[in-house]
Amino acid sequence: MSKIKKIAVLTSGGDAPGMNPCIRAVVRTAIYHKLDVVGIRQGYQGLIDNNMYDMSPRSVSNILDLGGTILKTARCLPFRTDEGMEIAYNNLKAQGIEALVVIGGDGTFTGALRFSKKYPDIAVMGVPGTIDNDLCGTDYTLGFDTATNTVIEALDKIRDTADAHDRLFFIEVMGRDSGCIALRAGISCGAEAILLPEKETAIHELIASLKAGEHNKKSSSIVIVAEGDKHGGAYDVAQMVKEEIKNYDVKVTILGHLQRGGSPSAFDRILGSRLGYAAVLGLINGETQKMAGLKGNSVRLTSLEEALMVHEYKLEEDLMQMVEILSI
Ligand code: F6P
Repeated sequence: MSKIKKIAVLTSGGDAPGMNPCIRAVVRTAIYHKLDVVGIRQGYQGLIDNNMYDMSPRSVSNILDLGGTILKTARCLPFRTDEGMEIAYNNLKAQGIEALVVIGGDGTFTGALRFSKKYPDIAVMGVPGTIDNDLCGTDYTLGFDTATNTVIEALDKIRDTADAHDRLFFIEVMGRDSGCIALRAGISCGAEAILLPEKETAIHELIASLKAGEHNKKSSSIVIVAEGDKHGGAYDVAQMVKEEIKNYDVKVTILGHLQRGGSPSAFDRILGSRLGYAAVLGLINGETQKMAGLKGNSVRLTSLEEALMVHEYKLEEDLMQMVEILSI
């Protein structure tokens, strides 16, 4: 058991629905265990700017249903420098903060790991918070479920109008280098094709399958293009296909940042609560440089190094095969 008395919590990188339930869990678990808690505003930028405040159980009242993050967030370049880290360290020491919970994605964890290796007397614990679902050591990241449901809601609406006009839509969804949102949303909405960064789709095959759809009397088609797809964005793919598909009127929609907002789903509220709770217990138990994640239905701690081994994206072949069969 460690003897930490004061911890801080921050959210960093792209906001994700579920961050607020997680902040709430961190604050209340820490206070229950007689720790002081400091909230850091705007992620690592707040560490450098000394933008911090003491939190109480009431600081996190009625936030379970809020999207975004009450602590604000930022993508902070100065924290990548030795000078930035030193200022952050001195600010933490001046406040008597001995441990940090960082809620964010791979950029956040990379920063946390570097910082903690340089200043091991500050313990760090990560919670995966990104809509991209692209970290190892956890089956789900905070925000992925809500974002997927947001995309599904949008796709259902687009299907209505696509069908009414016999149109072919190319819809671009977020996920950076991960096709997780694209694949799940595509299955849920019966997309005719899904273009993912994990798989190079030959454009002539896409055209052939869209033509087969026409031949099979489909009145509309939806192609989901994950933003990390190698052909470029939805506009580029639409351009490549347009000339060959004469009978459909072609439209493009970029869903953009609406995918990051909104009230967290039940799944993300529960996940945020479980992981925030576990992160604080981990710190109390003397853990550091770890991430609290969900494997199966169990909360597990994984080293930040392992969590960051993201870049071998695996294509879920079985799901892609199913998509092909179910969209005939
Ligand atoms: O990492 C979350 C994410 O929404 C990605 O899906 C997307 O590529 C990126 O952030 C967008 O970042 P920003 O909000 O800084 O433009």
